[in-house]
Formats: sequence, C-alpha cells, structure tokens
Amino acid sequence: MSVVTIAREGNIAVVTIDNPPVNALSQAVRQGLLDAVTALDGDPDVSAVVLACAGRTFIAGADVSEFDKPPQPPHLPDVVSAIELAAKPWIAAIHGSALGGGFEVALGCRFRLATVDASVGLPEVTLGLVPGAGGTVRTPRLAGVEAAVDLVTTGKPVRAPRGLELGLIDSVVEGDLRTAAIAFARERLVGPLPQPLSLRPAPTAPDAFWTEAEAAIAKRAKGEVAPLKALACLRRATEADFAAAMQFERATFLELRASSQAAALRHVFFAERAAPRPAALSGVQALPLRNAAVIGGGTMGAGIAAALRDAGLPVILIERDNAAVERGIANLKDIFASAVKRGRLTEASAEARLAGVLGSTDYAMLADTDLVIEAVFEELSVKRQVFARLGRVCRPDAVLATNTSYLDPRAIAEGLPNPGRFIGLHFFSPANVMKLLEIVPTPQTTDTTLATGFALSRMLGKVPVRAGICEGFIGNRILKRYRAEAEALVRQGVAIAAVDAAMRGYGFAMGPFEAQDLGGLDIAFLQREGARAAGQDVPETLGDILVRAGRKGQKTGGGWYDYKPGDRRPVPSDEVTRLLGALIEPGPALNAEAIAVHLVGAMAREGEAILAEGIAEKASDIDLVEIHGYGFPRWRGGPMFHAAKGAGSSS
Ligand code: NAI
Repeated sequence: MSVVTIAREGNIAVVTIDNPPVNALSQAVRQGLLDAVTALDGDPDVSAVVLACAGRTFIAGADVSEFDKPPQPPHLPDVVSAIELAAKPWIAAIHGSALGGGFEVALGCRFRLATVDASVGLPEVTLGLVPGAGGTVRTPRLAGVEAAVDLVTTGKPVRAPRGLELGLIDSVVEGDLRTAAIAFARERLVGPLPQPLSLRPAPTAPDAFWTEAEAAIAKRAKGEVAPLKALACLRRATEADFAAAMQFERATFLELRASSQAAALRHVFFAERAAPRPAALSGVQALPLRNAAVIGGGTMGAGIAAALRDAGLPVILIERDNAAVERGIANLKDIFASAVKRGRLTEASAEARLAGVLGSTDYAMLADTDLVIEAVFEELSVKRQVFARLGRVCRPDAVLATNTSYLDPRAIAEGLPNPGRFIGLHFFSPANVMKLLEIVPTPQTTDTTLATGFALSRMLGKVPVRAGICEGFIGNRILKRYRAEAEALVRQGVAIAAVDAAMRGYGFAMGPFEAQDLGGLDIAFLQREGARAAGQDVPETLGDILVRAGRKGQKTGGGWYDYKPGDRRPVPSDEVTRLLGALIEPGPALNAEAIAVHLVGAMAREGEAILAEGIAEKASDIDLVEIHGYGFPRWRGGPMFHAAKGAGSSS
C-alpha cells in the first residue's frame, strides 16, 4: 500500500500519510505528496485538500534513517513549495506533533488546524541543524519575527493553544479532527484565501533587535553553532527576498548537516533512543508500579519523591523520627514551590503533588508498596538496617532499591530475603530535574527487577544507563578521575581559574573547581577519609588540604575560591595560593584548548577502562552519563564520542 493516499468527501480531498510509526518524511512520503499535488490540481471536482496523518501523530519530522545518506529527490523544499503554490488550497490537520519538516509541510498549507493537545515546532537546532525547507523563511511571515526567533533558535515545540496565540495555528479543534478540517475547508472556501506565505511580505526588525538576540543566544549556546546560524537565517529571511532567503537557509542547512556538531548531536540522539530498550531485556516483563516509597527525606529522598509524584505515583516517605518527617515534607514543599515559581507547575498541581505524599516513621505502612527507594545516609550499617526492616515488612515481590553513590550494593543487600528484587537506582541531584538514572543490578538481581528499573526510568522521563558495580559506578568514577586530573594541572602550575575557564569555554556550565565549591568539598573528603580509616591507601588531595583548613566551598565562604557574602562569583584566593603553594611545580604553560583536551582525554581514558571491565555496556552509554548527569556539552557528543573522533581540536 502507498504511504500517501487520497480520499474524497464531496469536493474536498483528504490526503492521508500513513508511514508508521511517526509519519516521517521519507523519500516515499515526499514523492507521494508531490504526486498528490499534481493529481488533485488536475481534478476539476476537487476544490480544497485536507492533509492529515494516520496513527498517533502528524509528520513528526525527517526520516532519521536518511540522516547520514545523501539527500534523495524530491527535496523537501520543492515539495513544500508545490503544496503552497498548488491550484487547490491545502489545509493541514495536525494531531500529535508537527515537528521540523512536518511543520514546514504545514507551513506550505494555507491553513493549519490542530487538536488541543497537539504541538508544533522546529527542533532542528537540537540536532545541530537549521530548518532546511523554509522554516526560517516562512515562520516570520506567518507569526512575526519574535515568535519565529523563539521557535527556531530554542527548538522547543509549543502546544496548540499557545501556537494559536502566536499565530502559528489558525484554529484549535475539539472533537474529531478530520470532520472539523473538512468543515473548515468548506467554510473558508467561500471567503478570500490568505496568500501563500512565500508571496507575503517579510516583517522587519530593527538592527538593535538582532544584536540583542545574537548576544542572548551566544550566551546561552556556549559554543553551540546551530542556534546562531538559525538566527542568521531568520535575519536573512526578513532582509532578502523569498528566493534568496530560501537559498541561504538551504546552504546553511547543508553546511551544518556535514558539521561535527551535528554529527555529535545525532550520536546523542541515537544513544538516547537506544538507552531505554536494552536488547538483553527484550521480552522480559516489568512489574507493574502502582505506588512507591522513599526512605530518607533529605536532599535526594525528597527529590526522588518529587520525581515519583511528577509521574503520578502515590508516595510514602519514611524518616527516622517525626521531626525528620516534617523536614522531609518541608523539603518536598520547597521543591514544588520552586517549580511553581519557575512556571513549571500550577499552584493547584503543586498542592495535588504534595497531597499524594504520606510522611511517616512507620515501616509497617510499606506492606503493600510496589517499589521502595532507599536514600538514607551513605553508611553501610544504616543502609543495612533499613533493608533488614524492609525485608520483614515488604511484599516478597516488592522491588527494593538503593540510591547509594559509592557503597557496594552487594554488601547493602546481604541477608535480604529474595535478593533478586534488589537493585541500585542511582539518581542525580536534583533528582526531580536531572535526567540520568544509573541502574545497577547485583549478580542476584533478576531480569524482571532490572526491567522494572528501566520501566521506572521511562515513567520518570529519565535517561537510563545500566552500570556495573565498582566504586562510583560510571559517573562518579569518571568524575573522580576528572577532578584528580584537574588537580594535577594545578600542581603543574596551571591557575585554578584557568582550568575552570577552559572547561566553561569547552561548553560546561561550570569548571571542576567552581562546581566543587557549589556542591561542597566535604562530601568527597569524608568519603576519602572513610576509605583511609578502612585502611586503604588514599593519597592526600589538594581538596583535602582545603577542607582541613576549613574551606568546604561556598557554604563556608570559600573553597577553591573566596566568596563575598551573598555573592556567588568566585574570586581567586590568596589563602589557597598560600595553602597549596609549596606543592606546585610549574610545568609547561597550557592554553585553554590544551587544558580541555587533557581533561576530556582523561575522562575518555577512564571510560575506556570502565568499558574494558564491563562496568558500562557501550561507549555511548558513558556519553549519556556525562551529558545527562554531569553537564558535559551535548553538542560535543560526550567524552567517548569526542575521543573516538580523534578530536585533537576542541572545535
Ligand atoms: P541527606 O543527609 O540529605 O539525607 C539523608 C536522610 O536520610 C536524612 O533526612 C535522614 O534523616 C534520613 N535517614 C537516616 N537514617 C534513616 C533511617 N534509618 N530511616 C529513615 N530515614 C533515615 O543525604 P542525601 O544527600 O540525600 O543522600 C542520601 C543518599 O543518596 C546517600 O546514599 C548518598 O550517597 C546518595 N546520593 C546523594 C547524592 C547527592 O548529590 N547528595 C547524589 C546521588 C546519590
């Protein structure tokens, strides 16, 4: 059967794309659309055309399987332009998502109708691209410069009601879309039709608007090129004629398509798509999760409880005593209040989220809980006590998870009845925001438990990565190496501020030392002290020297840097120079690029060891860990991708 079919409703033709799963714009779809234009233009009985899609969505974008192949004709700009200039007006009937090329096809139509839960957008920049079929040229003509800049340079889709406000959509439909679209076609045919967008004049904006937009985007993009290139296309669209603007956009699209940033972003895109579906678990059923409990309502426990509530699960929060229960609930309140403040939640939904949490000190409440996540102090004896109690009160099939950062999950689970249901689920702080979830099975964990871990990750909208057992699993182990190498540079005479600046220049939001000052140097210090107390040979780090001098980071007014009260800006510290001075043996001078190459190289080498030991299953998993848990710039593709490219340069 053809992927594009034509049906009739009186004088209205309905063109339907049926190319599962997401009606991607494959060569066959593009050809089918072009043929439909020709056929319907030649049909005297047809006065208008509704373009709709079968299945769960409108055209959700380009065909990702064609990403790395040379473009095949007919090219999308020609298809969109054929629809736009067809003798019969086309109307897009959008459900699900109209993204990228899908929205560009809709821009070729005279009208755009959408269901209330549909979304439209031009996410090309998230793949290191700009729209390639008129998105930057037609959107400003439809919705004005500001809306177009927002849509194209952020890549964020908008929901239909917002799209209506912005002028991206003509009507939001309640009820049956096809029926509404046909009725709309009949109604609008009697009035004058709007001009095709290519024939409309382009809006203009003053120079100052573009300069400001450019500065704002450059700051946000931190070295990522596509958003700035998208802005340049939009500017050209308002200053040149339609044909010249289209040519500029296409040239930019083709240039970016071949760029290393686009290759890196495609790599991450495919890694993310593969992550939730480990091949080894295909056919393994996850257990149903109807409710959950969290033990410990501190930083992590409250964040995990919030994430579980965001996914709609009722949560029991267990703490040590009543005062701690109150603190835990207060932590959750703060999390939801800050989501309200940021516009992510309404007051009403924040209240509903909180109402779904039951705080208690009574483990007996967990008798019918499907999943328990432990986030108590990082102390083996405390954790073991918790699991001993859980083993007594929980159903034998309840999944029991630990959020430990460094302890050995096998030791935590020792003595637990039915150890097959035990697993490590390592969240990242703040747990309701950070996308990474390290899933750490023990040798006894069953496939069902493992599959349930992955299913939970999906419910929470996280990026799951399976990790084997070693100190720090994947992420914290690489972090430790990264910090050690950063310290090694300082010992060679590289300024602390120069290391941080180099990593910011590479694309991190913060360098390694500023980040430690924010999080506190004492956590890693205590962990090292614990290991020393246990008889391990852990050499003194520069960080240890600072902590011993009372410099634990921002919270103590200083760590690697000094901080003025109420000011988070790091100031190079004379005291640190004094404390560390004797340990510094100047080596060769390094520029920012050399510093970044050195540190990312160290991460990749640790990653290689992690792979060789089977702690990670594939290199791209390590990249996901760094990107979603540690702020590695997405457009660099992750340390393993960067290293595999032999990227001796940081561009
Ligand atoms: P925290 O100190 O903020 O919270 C721990 C909470 O556990 C406290 O509220 C305490 O009252 C409670 N607690 C202690 N013993 C308990 C018991 N027997 N029953 C019930 N509640 C008990 O610590 P945080 O930072 O939340 O860490 C918790 C766990 O998460 C640790 O294992 C840590 O290694 C891990 N983790 C921490 C991350 C972080 O960035 N802070 C990131 C990922 C994991």
